[in-house]
Amino acid sequence: MTTRATVIGVGHYLPERIVENAEFEKTLDTSDEWIRARSGIERRHFAADGETTSDLAVHAAKAALADAGLEPDDVDAIVVATSTADLTFPSSATMVQAKLGITRGFAFDIQAVCAGFVYALTNANALILSGQAKRVLVIGAETFSRIMDWTDRGTCVLFGDGAGALLLEAQDGAGTKDDRGILSTDLNSDGRHKDILYVDGGVSTNTTGHLRMQGKEVFRHAVEKLASTARTALEKADMGADDIDWIVPHQANIRIIAGTAKKLGLSMDNVVVTVQDHGNTSAASIPLALSVGKQRGQIKPGDLIVTEAIGGGLAWGAVVLRW
Ligand code: UT7
Repeated sequence: MTTRATVIGVGHYLPERIVENAEFEKTLDTSDEWIRARSGIERRHFAADGETTSDLAVHAAKAALADAGLEPDDVDAIVVATSTADLTFPSSATMVQAKLGITRGFAFDIQAVCAGFVYALTNANALILSGQAKRVLVIGAETFSRIMDWTDRGTCVLFGDGAGALLLEAQDGAGTKDDRGILSTDLNSDGRHKDILYVDGGVSTNTTGHLRMQGKEVFRHAVEKLASTARTALEKADMGADDIDWIVPHQANIRIIAGTAKKLGLSMDNVVVTVQDHGNTSAASIPLALSVGKQRGQIKPGDLIVTEAIGGGLAWGAVVLRW
């Protein structure tokens, strides 16, 4: 018998305000056509004034709990992946814990930018496998609209706000690749690439800062590193690309998503794509896509899913799980 961290609930939340590409044409030298062609993005959601990352996270967490038919008190731990926490401290996760009315267990944030959800899943899996928690809420939540430079057309048209959540539970598996739950994980980072994707401010420099990105450079790393980490994670699970039902990738750019699928030898019919409606929501993009993919009827129980993501750091990784 092997313990497996198994998905028993999923949910998401998107702020009410939808911003279509055309809206940027009013203030920037850009066009709906350019944004669609170069990124695949058509629209994104932006949080309202006063609506914070933990607010979005709580909505997604409640949806995941409802999906599982469980109450907040059934949760032992909360892990929030975010780079846009409400405050410098305490963690967004403890704010979510309080807003859900949970007074037991523990909660903490993980910061690995766009790879944050893959890092959070890996850590939640370790908590479950080591017996430190039976049920873990794993949330990706972001308000990237707060760190945009609205005069930089190379970045501000690409990002959006949102949150997604999975509820993981320790379940017994047979120890084979047919088990439901997380089957393997692979994490990587290389801090030498800091300058191609970063925020030019922070607490220790007494500034807030804006996101800065050398898009072409990030793109160049993305396809190669995403395909590589997906392959490594599959090998660790003793599987190959043929076993995959769905790739649920970080949703940054349709051309990166398609390029990675091609490198893995898979068709776009095996990819859950939400980038057109959400833009790049950083750590929230994978759980959002998992939740939407389930709602659409794409993801079904027993499906083999590979998630992969890359972002600032650079940090990247992949998780293989059976739904
Ligand atoms: O989630 C974290 C990871 N992030 C990513 O994965 C993002 C990776 N990068 C990308 O998605 C793409 O590189 C972008 C979508 C950011 C840009 O696409 P690109 O095909 O690499 O375009 P580019 O940066 O090479 O720019 C091409 C041209 C430039 O003009 P010149 O120098 O050729 O005259 C840009 O100034 O497009 C121009 N441009 C724009 N034009 C209209 C850049 N942004 C815009 C814009 N509207 N919004």
